[in-house]
Amino acid sequence: MKKILFSGILSTILFTSCGKKEEKKEALYPENVAEKLSPEDQLVADGKELFESNKAACFSCHKVDKKVIGPSVKDIAKIYKEQNGDMVAFLRKKADPIVDPSQYNVMETNFAILKTMSDEEIKSLEAYMMSTIK
Ligand code: HEC
Repeated sequence: MKKILFSGILSTILFTSCGKKEEKKEALYPENVAEKLSPEDQLVADGKELFESNKAACFSCHKVDKKVIGPSVKDIAKIYKEQNGDMVAFLRKKADPIVDPSQYNVMETNFAILKTMSDEEIKSLEAYMMSTIK
C-alpha cells in the first residue's frame, strides 16, 4: 500500500516537473513565432524604422498626424493616393513635388541622404508612409 502511494506521488512529481519544463521552453522563444511578418508588413516596419532613424531624420520635419516643418505623413500619403503619385520617383528626384511645391526647397536638402539609400530602402519609406492611411 505504502509502495503504491509512494510511486503515485513520485509519478505526479515527475509529471508536473516535465510539464513545467515544456512551458519554460515555449516562454523562451515566443518572439520567433509572434514576429514572423508578411513581406509587405516587414517592408512597412523597415520603412518606419528608417523614417524615424537619425540617418534619414525624416521624422524631424514630418510627424504622422500634424504639420510641423513639412506636411504630415498622412497628408502626404492622402495626396499621393488621390493623385496616384509616384513617391519612389519623387524620392529619387525623378518627379516634381505634388504636395506643397512652394516649400520644395526645404525638402530638397534631403536628396543628398536619399541618394545614398538602396532601392529597397526607398521602397520601404514609401510603404511606411502609405501605410499610415490604411
Ligand atoms: C528639413 C525638413 C524636412 C526633412 C528632414 C524631410 N522633409 Fe520631406 N518635406 C519637407 C517639406 C517642407 C515638404 C513640402 C514640400 C514638398 O511638397 O516638396 C516635404 C515633402 C515631402 C514629400 C512630398 C513631396 C511632394 O510630392 O510634394 C515626401 C514624400 C517627403 N517629404 C518625404 C520625406 C522623407 C522620406 C524624408 C526623410 C528621408 C523627408 N521627407 C525629410 C521637409 C522635410
